[in-house]
Amino acid sequence: MKKILVINGPNLNLLGEREPEIYGNLTLEDIVREMDKFVMNKGVELKHFQSNHEGKIIDFIHKYRKWADGILINPAALTHYSYSLRDAISGVSLPTVEVHLSDITEREAFRQISVIKDVCIEQVSGLGLKSYLRGLDILI
Ligand code: DQA
Repeated sequence: MKKILVINGPNLNLLGEREPEIYGNLTLEDIVREMDKFVMNKGVELKHFQSNHEGKIIDFIHKYRKWADGILINPAALTHYSYSLRDAISGVSLPTVEVHLSDITEREAFRQISVIKDVCIEQVSGLGLKSYLRGLDILI
């Protein structure tokens, strides 16, 4: 049984209504449901978490670091500046995949920088829901 923490960062609770031309029409609940469906019968257990607070995300990683075999994270805007999230990921030594709905390499200059990328085994960006599913595949 593989156990994976699935973490969504700030503002992703508003998916579906937030800038749908960039992030699509799916809500976070839709994405969670699709991920749960994707891992069904694969011997994988997901623990989902969303927060708008950097420290709460770090606390969640600490709390479940011994439970989990890996982390899938869309750090949202924290991607671009959160050294404390980067340290939390490298500190727990769990294989981590960074995902984004939009293609951050094709957007504003500040979004093209990820301070998280180097402590992840892979970054998947620009595929919408499929970024999450590909990220799960990589971890599984
Ligand atoms: C995002 C991209 C980030 O730049 C942005 O701050 C988000 C969402 C994405 O999934 O495309 O909130 O991580």
